[in-house]
Amino acid sequence: MARSPVVARTLPALRRALTELREGGARVALVPTMGALHDGHLSLVRLAKRRADKVAVSVFVNPTQFAPNEDFASYPRTWKADAGKLAAEEVDLIWNPDVKVMYPDGFATRITTEGPALAGLEDRFRPHFFGGVATVVGKLFLQCRPDVAVFGSKDFQQLRVVTRMAADLDLGVKVIGAPTVRERDGLAMSSRNVYLSAEERSAAPTLYRAMKHTAKLMRAGKSFEPSLAAATKMIREAGFTLDYFEARHAETLEPVRSLKGGPVRLLVAARIGKTRLIDNMAV
Ligand code: PAF
Repeated sequence: MARSPVVARTLPALRRALTELREGGARVALVPTMGALHDGHLSLVRLAKRRADKVAVSVFVNPTQFAPNEDFASYPRTWKADAGKLAAEEVDLIWNPDVKVMYPDGFATRITTEGPALAGLEDRFRPHFFGGVATVVGKLFLQCRPDVAVFGSKDFQQLRVVTRMAADLDLGVKVIGAPTVRERDGLAMSSRNVYLSAEERSAAPTLYRAMKHTAKLMRAGKSFEPSLAAATKMIREAGFTLDYFEARHAETLEPVRSLKGGPVRLLVAARIGKTRLIDNMAV
């Protein structure tokens, strides 16, 4: 029978568990999560298992990446189910600190991000977000000292930001982006999909369809501007309020106007009801 993962909730317990994991020179992968685990997260765990000898998963809903008007309080917390899923994947360690362990009284330090964090995409609508993500991911990397860390590509700008941060701060961790896992109708898996009403859920795959259609037009040589405008219309007609739908350079996140400026990535963020969805696709 598979051994249950060790669950660490304090820094001394984490250190003890990591020392044991590293015995014999084992390489450790970290999969940072906020819990509410779905098949997308489990695909990150499976990729981590292929890239390292031992796998640690952090489960921590990070308050510093939510603005006061956002869903920190209501963010789905499903500890029992998460622990069961991670045990079934034969994860070695779960790092599940309390907010007070991660941010003790008097905590006063924050990692400031530039470059990909100021691309005018998520940062335009969630200006607090990348500072909070970089701070907690920086702490997770320092606490766990992983050899590799696996992040989903659905949060494409986040992936660029943490990759940059790990390199800039010489954290000695290789950041790996895993492909987005989708529902059968194309909707990207997300812990926030549980917020969607039945009607919103049936409209939600429009984001995927719009990106797919736009990527096809662009690959066929159509101009970017009208292709993006048609997608924008399609998304709005499905009932979304659009934050952005843009073509960017996949590495620098700079705006691009043709395939010659590529590799090109389409990135979208839109709100339906009380749910904000993001997604992206390579052209
Ligand atoms: O992508 C997420 O779930 C979070 O932003 C992360 C990387 C775990 C940091 O809290």
